[in-house]
Amino acid sequence: MAKITASVYTSHVPAIGAALDLGKTAEPYWKTVFDGYEFSKQWEKDNKPDVVFLVFNDHATAFSLDMIPTFAIGTAAEFMPADEGWGPRPVPKVIGHPELAAHIAQSVIQSDFDLTIVNKMDVDHGLTVPMSLMFGQPKEWPCPVIPFAVNVVQYPVPSGQRCFMLGKAIRKAVESYDQPLKVQIWGTGGMSHQLQGPRAGLINKDFDKKFLDGMVSDPESLTRIQHIDYIREAGSEGIETVMWLIARGAMDDVNGGKAPTMRHRFYHVPASNTAVGHMILENN
Ligand code: DHB
Ligand code: FE
Repeated sequence: MAKITASVYTSHVPAIGAALDLGKTAEPYWKTVFDGYEFSKQWEKDNKPDVVFLVFNDHATAFSLDMIPTFAIGTAAEFMPADEGWGPRPVPKVIGHPELAAHIAQSVIQSDFDLTIVNKMDVDHGLTVPMSLMFGQPKEWPCPVIPFAVNVVQYPVPSGQRCFMLGKAIRKAVESYDQPLKVQIWGTGGMSHQLQGPRAGLINKDFDKKFLDGMVSDPESLTRIQHIDYIREAGSEGIETVMWLIARGAMDDVNGGKAPTMRHRFYHVPASNTAVGHMILENN
């Protein structure tokens, strides 16, 4: 049986990808950011997953306002890094896991979550920056990845509660797959940031700290945060953090008497316009 072994949470700031690709990681501004991921890269080597189920958002790259699915699962054999205007990032192509992805689609849709099936998709910084932060700069990524895209761009976007329940359905799907795979689930995006309008540059350290605390001890309380409160407190793009709740929903339940173990927690302001948050939780 496959098992969800751990979850990883991280921001996906595109300038982090550019800093890596342009060899700027030793510059003082960036060094503090990358230092927060040194533990994580070693942890990935020591706890190599067979598959990563990567919850991310597309930034009008693969999708556009022409068509934007709420939840979309990547079932393709491979996914190319997208050209977001400066050419594709010089990172390896992403190898998918069509068989496990199809199984999860079957199980999750039968659990009443309607997913869009995506057989062709280029992946933008929402997916490639977390990959670089966790795996560094290898010639090939160390394992297959199932991209899972969530609409946090065009309202109405899904609620935190729905995301959390979806995580539970994903866990059930993984655990009913008949091969002994170690699956990590990653929730990416966030934390507080706003890229446009009069409040551009907004950061809310208190909100982010409470969110990180809640991820460990009381994720259900986070599911009650309404969209308007994400926007007021964490900025218009802070809504990306709702994707963390999908990954958290797939982890051990505090109410079930078992809390996951926190292996790493990191928070840093600023990276570009964003408060960078990062956490690793292991199931017991
Ligand atoms: C930035 C952050 C994002 O999440 C994004 O998608 C684009 C830009 C930023 O901080 O610049
Ligand atoms: Fe983003």
